[in-house]
Amino acid sequence: RTKFRRAMNETDNEAQTKAIDSLLNFETVKYFGNEAHESQRFDKSLARFEIASVKSQVSLNALNVGQAVIISVAMAVMMLMAANGVAYHHMKIGQFVLVNTYLMQLYIPLNFLGFTYLTLNQGLIDMEQMFSLLRVDHEVTDKPGALVLAEHGAPAEIRFEDVHFAYNPDRQIIKGISFTAAPGRKIAIVGPTGSGKSTISRLLFRFYDTTGGAVSVDGHDVRDYTQGSLRGAIGVVPQDTVLFNDSIFYNIAYGRPGATVEEIEQAARFAQVHDFIVSLPQGYKTKVGERGLKLSGGEKQRVAIARTILKNPRILILDEATSALDTHTEQEISAALRQVAFDRTTLVIAHRLSTVTDADEILVLRGGLIAERGSHAGLLAMGGVYAGMWAAQQVESEDIALPEVAE
Ligand SMILES: Nc1ncnc2c1ncn2[C@@H]1O[C@H](COP(=O)(O)OP(=O)(O)OP(=O)(O)O)[C@@H](O)[C@H]1O
Ligand SMILES: [Mg+2]
Repeated sequence: RTKFRRAMNETDNEAQTKAIDSLLNFETVKYFGNEAHESQRFDKSLARFEIASVKSQVSLNALNVGQAVIISVAMAVMMLMAANGVAYHHMKIGQFVLVNTYLMQLYIPLNFLGFTYLTLNQGLIDMEQMFSLLRVDHEVTDKPGALVLAEHGAPAEIRFEDVHFAYNPDRQIIKGISFTAAPGRKIAIVGPTGSGKSTISRLLFRFYDTTGGAVSVDGHDVRDYTQGSLRGAIGVVPQDTVLFNDSIFYNIAYGRPGATVEEIEQAARFAQVHDFIVSLPQGYKTKVGERGLKLSGGEKQRVAIARTILKNPRILILDEATSALDTHTEQEISAALRQVAFDRTTLVIAHRLSTVTDADEILVLRGGLIAERGSHAGLLAMGGVYAGMWAAQQVESEDIALPEVAE
């Protein structure tokens, strides 16, 4: 029966995964009017589950019936033999009863043993998935005796030395990048989409290990630190912000569980989101919905900035942190972020070049390599890729510039 039970578990998993996926992405389902498609998909999975579970149940019943038949037939034969013995006077009535009692004492535990074996076996099959999950190797592990990086305090130095990286061996993403961010400096990474900007931040955060070269913080390879302390020292405002389905307060406090109300409000002020929050009927207690659905893109980003400010890390990574904001709010937040970044080493990833003009060094990434590097003025004077991107964005912003409207 093992294979039926396994098939049943697999189809059950599949159906659950589809249900969760379509419910999580309900907006996309609606955008494309694919409700019927989704329910059909789910229905098909459920049908497969139904077939598998019927098979499993039928085989279980067959097993039970078989077991019962064997026991009953054996019991009947033995009793007939004993009755025969009584009829021909080899046995007394008392012995007939004794045989019956012996048999009962034998078959009840045997039956029970069969049942226990069945349940045990079923449990093991059901746990197979969990065991296989436990056997999966960690991609990133701590070295024995790993160093502990101070999470707060003086800004850290970041160094990338000829870093190579590929998510899959057949497609190289980073092809040899070197740069140094001196403590407290601001490095900007710009470049076309898919050039590996977010990947650089993931390597620094050690979501993945490099396939060549080294990433180091404060003079030690990131692989020499414990993951906990390294990640504690780095604050990331990611490209796609996801919030927890709880209050705004909870989501900001997530940056540092145990922070006081004043600290949380202070962080929200820095991120220019405090006024918005208090204007809500339920203020900081407002629920944000699944993944932060009930907030606008810009509000979500500002909450994400607030929680990173609250974390108070030594290294700050801003991955398109202000991309969803209007120019006016972006400028205000940029000013606040400059203040926050003042005594931190900062890595800014941006498409809108106007937000990185003050960086100490700008790296222009292209196809996994640094195509150009230098200060804003230097790169403009060079008249290369960056100057081209800058000119194109200037034209764009003139095209879409709207008259300032007082709020
Ligand atoms: N987990 C992953 N597995 C496999 N490939 C990935 C993974 N994450 C990203 N990639 C690929 O790596 C490349 C670089 O991705 P990355 O996210 O670093 O781009 P980016 O420069 O941040 O782009 P954008 O400006 O659009 O955010 C992309 O081509 C992407 O398809
Ligand atoms: Mg990115």
